[in-house]
Amino acid sequence: MCSIIGYRGSRPAGKIIVDSLKKMEYRGYDSVGVSTLHSGRIETRKGVGKVSEVDSSLHMNSMAGTVGIGHTRWATHGGVNTANAHPHCSNSKKISIVHNGIIENYQSIKQQLRAEGYVFKSQTDSEVIANLLQKNLELTGSIRESMLRTLARLEGSFAFIAIFEGGTIAAARYREPLIIGLGQSAYYLSSDVLGFSDHTDDAIFLGDKELVIISSSGMEVLNFDGESIQPNVTKIAHELLTAEKGDFSHFTLKEIFEQKSTILRTADAHWYDSDRLLDRLNNCKNLYLTGSGTSYHAALIGSFLLSKYAKKRAEPMIASEMQFLPTFIDDDSVLLAISQSGESADILSAVNLAKEEGAGIVSIVNSMTSSLFRESSYSIGLHCGPEVGVAATKSFTSQLVVMYRLAQELSGGKIEPDFTEVSLAVSKVLSSSSKIEEVAKGLESASDIYVLGRGIHFPIALEGSLKIKEISYIHAEGLPGGELKHGPLALMHDGISVVLVNPDDCTHADTLTGAHEIKARGGKIIGISNAYNELYDSWIEIPTVDEAMFPIVESVPLQLLAYYTSLEKKADPDYPRNLAKCVTVR
Ligand code: BG6
Repeated sequence: MCSIIGYRGSRPAGKIIVDSLKKMEYRGYDSVGVSTLHSGRIETRKGVGKVSEVDSSLHMNSMAGTVGIGHTRWATHGGVNTANAHPHCSNSKKISIVHNGIIENYQSIKQQLRAEGYVFKSQTDSEVIANLLQKNLELTGSIRESMLRTLARLEGSFAFIAIFEGGTIAAARYREPLIIGLGQSAYYLSSDVLGFSDHTDDAIFLGDKELVIISSSGMEVLNFDGESIQPNVTKIAHELLTAEKGDFSHFTLKEIFEQKSTILRTADAHWYDSDRLLDRLNNCKNLYLTGSGTSYHAALIGSFLLSKYAKKRAEPMIASEMQFLPTFIDDDSVLLAISQSGESADILSAVNLAKEEGAGIVSIVNSMTSSLFRESSYSIGLHCGPEVGVAATKSFTSQLVVMYRLAQELSGGKIEPDFTEVSLAVSKVLSSSSKIEEVAKGLESASDIYVLGRGIHFPIALEGSLKIKEISYIHAEGLPGGELKHGPLALMHDGISVVLVNPDDCTHADTLTGAHEIKARGGKIIGISNAYNELYDSWIEIPTVDEAMFPIVESVPLQLLAYYTSLEKKADPDYPRNLAKCVTVR
């Protein structure tokens, strides 16, 4: 997924665009570029690397002109190089575009345009948009007609912004987010509200198959059939507009440390019309939970809690796999879709599949301005504030809080989560972060790390291993502790690193049995537990809480272990290679 931004106003566009791209860089950071229009000409500067690095050599922030576009890239088509960086200009150099998404039929369009004499400078799918707009503009002489004809030709998923030599800026969206920010005699076009959060909190969320054209005669919103639309202006909640690092060296660390308060914010958040929600969940014949990455691990915990306490069968499914899985989804089913961003393409396509079968959609999202929020018949917000670190941390523990609240509500109080106790326990873990930093030093040279957990702790072991993979680039595998002897034990050898998620509950003794087998083969054990054991080479102590609540508390030391290991590896925990905060392409 990439970030795109556009500006048309009275102030220098270069600086505004570069500052916006810095705020949205978590969406993609392979390359960056800016085009501005001044003295009737479009100028483009672009390069490989992060915004601040490229800007220090190309000075995009001082580009002249009051109309411009910008882009940060997460490469899908074509290598990471300057030619493939956006913006892409048309052959006439009178149009420049930035694009997020995938043009699935770009090869046939490219072939046709090549046959008509167009030349392509990149390997990207996106560049076809620029030349198609040129062709249609030359045919029709109208930017409106050129946009409509071009949109009629494109297949796939896209949000793109184009600037034209005359000063007009136009944009369109289909399956990718695009938001208009309304400023003082200025317009912002962005993938994310964070792109214009410093300038305005008045926004228009462009609907699917809608476009906007902004020229000296004002703004016009149309659908892809050319019909005018009266857009709704939304006031963006302040909590969604601020994402500062504060005194923390990384967003990831700041967001890990926020959890002592975000857990309580999610626990206290009001669920409007909750009777309707609980009725729907209680009475549906089939309940499915789905998510991607970390959100899928929250689905696994949710399935465990709803089955154990509410006696509600809740089947977890990996969102990207759902299209290939046999399900019993019908009009008496509910899909509980979990997504921090609410924009992951895999989760949105899973939702479309379920909707086609008549199922109800309930979502758990952090971004209450997202596509998933708008696609749902009921949405539960996390209220943990924007999450910038690419590896999900505070959103995960908040997703778990929502699952515990659902289990409490649907079980008629068979579980009474004490989130204050959990928040205090998390504070204690955070205050011993330097101990975890010490333990991480021992993992710097590890090539493989195994994370073991049993019962409800297995999904937490999966989440711990994902964090380690995401930000420290060490191969890590989450395993159900009892499966070790059925294969993975063959991988145990002198010095192999194993993390045990092992609180003193019903799984404790069996997990220690596995620990003996690992020690017998020379493994080095890091024990995350409220109870010490001499089998541990390193003990990361967590406070004792109600045993049902350990999953939230034990997640935090795993996040810190991954974070400090990534620092040992000299990696950038906020912007891990090859990843993006949410992936809006399937
Ligand atoms: C990945 C992120 O792109 O998407 C993960 O790097 C995240 O951290 C996953 O868990 C799912 O994202 P979301 O927004 O749908 O929860």
